[in-house]
Amino acid sequence: MTNWAGCRRRMYDTIDSTNKEARLWARQGAPHGAVIVAKTQTAGRGRQGRTWESPPGAGLWLSILLRPAIKAEEIPLLPFAIALAAADACARVSRYEIRIKWPNDLLLGNQKVAGILLEKEGDAVIAGIGVNVNQQETDFPVELRQKATSLKMHTDVALSIAQLENELLREIEKRLDDWDFLDEYQQRCMTIGTRVRVLAVADAFDGVATGIDSTGALLVRDDTGRTRAVYAADVSIRGVDGYV
Ligand code: BTN
Repeated sequence: MTNWAGCRRRMYDTIDSTNKEARLWARQGAPHGAVIVAKTQTAGRGRQGRTWESPPGAGLWLSILLRPAIKAEEIPLLPFAIALAAADACARVSRYEIRIKWPNDLLLGNQKVAGILLEKEGDAVIAGIGVNVNQQETDFPVELRQKATSLKMHTDVALSIAQLENELLREIEKRLDDWDFLDEYQQRCMTIGTRVRVLAVADAFDGVATGIDSTGALLVRDDTGRTRAVYAADVSIRGVDGYV
């Protein structure tokens, strides 16, 4: 049971993007916690302008509209709350350890099992969450097979997308109501303490990720010893030691 997460819910068989639909609904005044779910998306959106594969019945494709009572400067921290919530929900239904890669990719082993896209719409934030649940390896496009995985590829437990949605909404509500997650996020984020390659449009460098600052930037000590703050919108991160 939740108090506000999922208080209104629109379910579609097919939609272009649940995030896009949630943004329209936000403009019409949808309340905090309103949810859009689809069985399949024809134009699922990923971070940094990428697309998100969302085949019918293969995963949880959900957007939740948030109007959290937080300060404007705390909004960049929202992705971390959603990442913890999604990781815990996925772990509970699959009984498998889910790792968080900064800022909010979820990995199973070294492959991505879920992605999160936050978009602002007026004073609302749309958190779009895509979890690969039922795909087999051959269901992914060839170019994604090394990088992507699904919960089912790693577990014998029967997976219910409906149960995953319920767990996710419960965890999101808990994380946002508590609003005390930054230390836990830093402890659980696999990126922190590892060597990373930072890929920006104009620049690339290697270093060690040392933490998150209060603006949500990842702090990376480069090989000259200088600490640089990098922002999720501007860079991609690769694990130098093998993760995606
Ligand atoms: C990423 O690139 O890792 C983020 C992927 C986010 C995908 C989800 S699926 C539900 C919601 N609707 C979208 O169009 N995108 C998000």
